[in-house]
Amino acid sequence: MRHMFMKAAAVLVLAVAGSALPAGNVVRSESCRSTSDCSREFLTSLVTQILDSVVAHDPYSLPLATVYKATENSHPAALGMMTLWRTVTKAGAPSLLALDTTNCTAYFALAISEGNDATEAVLRGRIAVVDQQITELELFINRNRGDHGFTFSADEVLSNYEPLMNPPANRTKPSRETLWALSQSLFAAESNFSVTLGDDCLFTESGGKVVDTGLYGNGSSTPLGCVWPDDHPIDVNARVGLVIDEELGFVVTSGIIPGTVYPYQNVSAFIPNDMTAAQEAQDAWIEEMTALGNWTMLSPTGATGDTLEVLQYYDNALQAMQINVYLSGPNMTSPWL
Ligand SMILES: *[C@@H]1O[C@H](CO)[C@@H](O)[C@H](O)[C@H]1NC(C)=O
Ligand SMILES: *[C@@H]1O[C@H](CO)[C@@H](O)[C@H](O)[C@H]1NC(C)=O
Ligand SMILES: *[C@@H]1O[C@H](CO)[C@@H](O)[C@H](O)[C@H]1NC(C)=O
Ligand SMILES: *[C@@H]1O[C@H](CO)[C@@H](O)[C@H](O)[C@H]1NC(C)=O
Ligand SMILES: *[C@@H]1O[C@H](CO)[C@@H](O)[C@H](O)[C@H]1NC(C)=O
Ligand SMILES: *[C@@H]1O[C@H](CO)[C@@H](O)[C@H](O)[C@H]1NC(C)=O
Ligand SMILES: *[C@@H]1O[C@H](CO)[C@@H](O)[C@H](O)[C@H]1NC(C)=O
Repeated sequence: MRHMFMKAAAVLVLAVAGSALPAGNVVRSESCRSTSDCSREFLTSLVTQILDSVVAHDPYSLPLATVYKATENSHPAALGMMTLWRTVTKAGAPSLLALDTTNCTAYFALAISEGNDATEAVLRGRIAVVDQQITELELFINRNRGDHGFTFSADEVLSNYEPLMNPPANRTKPSRETLWALSQSLFAAESNFSVTLGDDCLFTESGGKVVDTGLYGNGSSTPLGCVWPDDHPIDVNARVGLVIDEELGFVVTSGIIPGTVYPYQNVSAFIPNDMTAAQEAQDAWIEEMTALGNWTMLSPTGATGDTLEVLQYYDNALQAMQINVYLSGPNMTSPWL
């Protein structure tokens, strides 16, 4: 079923970039009114400033717009009310950083500590900037598998994302139009964009490579690769091209995916409702285990996957696919719609 969802597709973009500007250089500026001031260095510095402010528990040092929009794990809150700004004790440089200098948006992801370095969490987020002031912050912190119903590994974030931040120098970069078309096809009912999979396309969910040992423990022990199936979850209101980074080939897309959290072996997993075959297999397994009567299981329960999927595309092929989900209750939508 993990197989099935990977088909669903979600993409995250990571970029690791050195901060070219000291954080102090990012100031509120009424005179800079145009997005032409939005360079990779500026966006990188702004993301660094956000992470520094989280650790310093001081959101109000940031260059926020007069009216900004912000969510933490799908619910709206003023930055000063967010749990993140209270709990995070350590945050390094982003392990993945995707920068869109045309629309002045960015996506970042990294492992962070909330005091216990032995059990780190994954922080990821998207920002939008106008006139060098932050107008949108969409933040997610996944602390364990239950937050999303998939693989989770804060430990692997850096090692999995580092190669994506360092693509081959001789790569053929995608156009903005190509990345937009890729993003649009992700949750579309139909698309004419034909996706070729790169030979080493890296598939991850919340930082980790996905090993699906199967419902009966007799599945694969090697990590799953990328797939681009015709039967994937559909969201006609998907937010397309949230961050388009032609330089590194990243594009970020959001879909709201209705589904069900099912028992899976001794844990649980989220299966989109569009994946009826996977859900039926799960129902059959539950019936079997119920009849045996020596197994304890979570009751299948409705949920909604709020997805920020990061794809990486260059050399005319898909190079990485990251399904990043945060679950809410059933029948939910997004505050960003
Ligand atoms: C971002 O850029 C694309 C063109 O590449 C454009 O179609 C889209 O409307 C822009 N989005 C925003 C929010 O400005
Ligand atoms: C880039 O260089 C590698 C190693 O020399 C080569 O295998 C690959 O085909 C090149 N890629 C492109 C797009 O030229
Ligand atoms: C795909 O191409 C066909 C034939 O050109 C066209 O009729 C259809 O509208 C296209 N679909 C999309 C989603 O662009
Ligand atoms: C795993 O076991 C189940 C139940 O015995 C069986 O139906 C299934 O075909 C097996 N799968 C593989 C890949 O061997
Ligand atoms: C589930 O079972 C596996 C062995 O099949 C075990 O390694 C794992 O710790 C168990 N997980 C939980 C949460 O009990
Ligand atoms: C449950 O019962 C079946 C059939 O007797 C047995 O094969 C299986 O090992 C048992 N499972 C557990 C977890 O006890
Ligand atoms: C609301 O969620 C429940 C549980 O997942 C589902 O059965 C029902 O179809 C959903 N209703 C709508 C209108 O989507």
